[in-house]
Amino acid sequence: MKPDMTPREAFLAACRRQPVARKPSWLMRQAGRYMPEYQAVRGQVSFLDLCKSPELCRDVTMQPIEILGLDIGIIFSDILLPAEAMGQPLDFSERGPVLGNPVRDRAAIEALADFDAAVATPWPAESIRLTREVIGDHRALLGFCGAPFTLASYMVEGGGSRNYENIKRLMYGDPGAFELLLDRLTDNLHGYLRIQAEAGADALQIFDSWGGALATKDYARFVQPRMERLIAGLKRELDLPIISYVNGCSHLLELMADSGADVLAIDWKVEPAEAIRRVGDRCAIQGNMDPCALLASPEAAAAETRANLEAFGDFAGHIFNLGSGVLKWTPVACAQAVVDTVKDYRPRGA
Ligand code: CP3
Repeated sequence: MKPDMTPREAFLAACRRQPVARKPSWLMRQAGRYMPEYQAVRGQVSFLDLCKSPELCRDVTMQPIEILGLDIGIIFSDILLPAEAMGQPLDFSERGPVLGNPVRDRAAIEALADFDAAVATPWPAESIRLTREVIGDHRALLGFCGAPFTLASYMVEGGGSRNYENIKRLMYGDPGAFELLLDRLTDNLHGYLRIQAEAGADALQIFDSWGGALATKDYARFVQPRMERLIAGLKRELDLPIISYVNGCSHLLELMADSGADVLAIDWKVEPAEAIRRVGDRCAIQGNMDPCALLASPEAAAAETRANLEAFGDFAGHIFNLGSGVLKWTPVACAQAVVDTVKDYRPRGA
């Protein structure tokens, strides 16, 4: 281990389960509405226009880096941009995303467009290029996309959902059409991620926020093969770590590891020791503090951070994070306490 590793080198080493002197850490949704500086930008521009303005995406990406002192950035964007590029109207209302003309049958799935990411969705890659100029070589920068299943769910439901009725009706009623939708998303997401890597991302995270709603057998049959194909396709062209996040993943860890991801990002319901025992010999693990632990007080947030770091023990492949995104009601002082606590922490034996 090099004691003078940069945070970027430490992050890349942890992705490969190599020892580090300092725990790499970042927070899912680290840029967002809990920060007054983000609210100030949003006061001037709609969320979708923000996602399509690379200069503003750069500035918002840098807010938690500069204000909280984080060393890993995730490019500011949204997982739903590819749905719009495939032809579905996209809007963000007060109550969350709305996708027009929900895609509910084979004809609607066949009518979707394939897109060239460099032409139809150039913003995340362009934002990465601009952010790299200011974030420097010593800090890491991540690109991302939504997983095929989570995007399919939004496109079929038309927005958020409680029981995933429509996507599951399609899965059980017309599995061939469901598979076609997943395949078309998998193919299009490949180019969407590739241009982010070519623009300078150090790693790519695939967000399957809704994947945990599936039974193990259905994840194995429908989702895992597409995740494996997406990851293998990227790995053929690019040498960078891929992080697979599934919210509600405790029944799926082995299948997630089978997909070839370097890092599994896990939610807070799984005990770290159990995740390490089940998949720690194959993957690094990112997570997994409960985002609600940032709602009480800085002291409580710091105590829970220490407990989470201890729970990962001397596992070399740990990247500290939350088990889900920062909530909009999070006091900035609590996020700061988390970041400071991880920075002060020294892995045992380091
Ligand atoms: O800092 C970061 O993590 C990078 C930016 C980022 C956003 N969305 C910004 C955002 C990332 C990585 C995402 C991913 C995303 N988007 C996911 C997967 C992660 C997860 O939380 O499970 C999902 C499911 C979406 C879809 C989406 N976009 C929803 C459900 C919402 C509304 C949620 C809410 O909190 O209201 C969005 C909008 C969105 N994406 C906001 C931000 C900062 C809030 C928009 C605003 O400013 O009003």
